[in-house]
Amino acid sequence: MKNIGVLISGGGTNLQALIDKQGSVIKSGRIVCVCSNSASAYGLERAKKAGIPTKVIRKNADCGGDINEFSHRICGYMKEMNVDVIVLAGFMAIFGGELLNEYSGRIINIHPSLIPSFCGKGMYGLKVHEAALDYGVKVTGATVHLVNEIVDGGKILMQKAVYVKEGDTPETLQRRVMEEAEWIILPEAVEKFCAGEV
Ligand code: GAR
Repeated sequence: MKNIGVLISGGGTNLQALIDKQGSVIKSGRIVCVCSNSASAYGLERAKKAGIPTKVIRKNADCGGDINEFSHRICGYMKEMNVDVIVLAGFMAIFGGELLNEYSGRIINIHPSLIPSFCGKGMYGLKVHEAALDYGVKVTGATVHLVNEIVDGGKILMQKAVYVKEGDTPETLQRRVMEEAEWIILPEAVEKFCAGEV
């Protein structure tokens, strides 16, 4: 059984999907802690409701804006909680250094597009769906991948396509990509990873 640490920044619907699928889809791991880089992230409430320990580590307020210190503190918390696998579930901060080195090959991210489209630095959250609509693609989706030093550049573990509909707004498209892709493939990929199948 792998210990999973989840990093969030906001609403935490992907975290909720992971919590809800524990024991059914996710059988080879369990969530042992949730860490947020924002004190107001609603995902913290979701974790508390599920009885999962939480911690807030903010780059500016707690680490003086120092990215290495930020990485060091998150890494320290993950180790303290005996985390084996880290899942970035809507984590909007970039980190490198210690966390990436210590957990190399054991950090999983969900991105709301079909990588290599609409990804990389500055492409996160609603911006991804705005870019997809601006480009006029008819199919988009979500990707679960391993994290390396290149933003959204690690090995792809799973992808699912979602149709863009006439009249979609970034918000309606974001919701459909979450419902039809993210909340399904993230728990599936986490299970496969924890089970050693990928
Ligand atoms: C999700 O759509 C996730 O894929 C995206 O942010 C949203 C977070 O929602 N992540 C990224 O854009 C990372 N580059 P949630 O907090 O409700 O899970």
